[in-house]
Amino acid sequence: MNNQQAYNQWAGNYDTVINKTRDLEGKALRTVLSQFQFTSVLEIGCGTGKNTEWLIPHAEKIIAADFSIEMLAKAKSKIDSLSVEFRQADIREAWNFREGEFDLIICSLVLEHIENIEFVFREAKTKLKAGGLLYIGELHPFKQLMGSKARFETVTGTFELECFIHHYSDYFNAALTNGMKCIGTEEWFDDDDRTTVPRLLTMVFQKNSGIPSSDNT
Ligand SMILES: C[S@@+](CC[C@H](N)C(=O)[O-])C[C@H]1O[C@@H](n2cnc3c(N)ncnc32)[C@H](O)[C@@H]1O
Repeated sequence: MNNQQAYNQWAGNYDTVINKTRDLEGKALRTVLSQFQFTSVLEIGCGTGKNTEWLIPHAEKIIAADFSIEMLAKAKSKIDSLSVEFRQADIREAWNFREGEFDLIICSLVLEHIENIEFVFREAKTKLKAGGLLYIGELHPFKQLMGSKARFETVTGTFELECFIHHYSDYFNAALTNGMKCIGTEEWFDDDDRTTVPRLLTMVFQKNSGIPSSDNT
């Protein structure tokens, strides 16, 4: 079973099974992004719409994309809003969205499934407006190194999805290569206990505004 087929199966109970990573990421995204208001948002790997729903009052227009038709069907069954458009898309292939359209791109718990994240940053850069933001919320690489990965129960037992480990430097170098700077990063712990291995990593990158900096005189 490949990841697309796996998510089609997992869609049935993705929202209802106990999943600390899903829940903590929802909390993290809300904490990080609630200070902003957006015009046009692209959410990649929207899944069952956990974050799409929250985004509605924070944005005029949202495109929510995912490669799993069943995850999208769940999201559509929960969200009925004229400001949300759902699309099936595989983010490993060229992104078929308008260039320079979005002031925010969101990527929650998706990049662990993408081997080449530099490609994602490259595509995101072309689809963002100047000064636009890229939010990433992912399983922390330390947690991945401890053996955590996306998995779910099937009738034949636990199924583990194909996952890749991305280190801090991988994200930051991909951003640098694509003219983005980090404007915020945070590590998120179970029960806020900072003596334990962090569960999640969030980062917000900003595309170059195109305005020359005044401090290079
Ligand atoms: C762990 S779920 C996260 C869903 C949602 N963002 C959330 O935070 O609850 C990962 C999602 O990414 C999607 N996904 C994985 N690989 C993808 C790809 N190559 N292109 C598009 N979507 C992908 C899956 O179908 C799934 O819905």
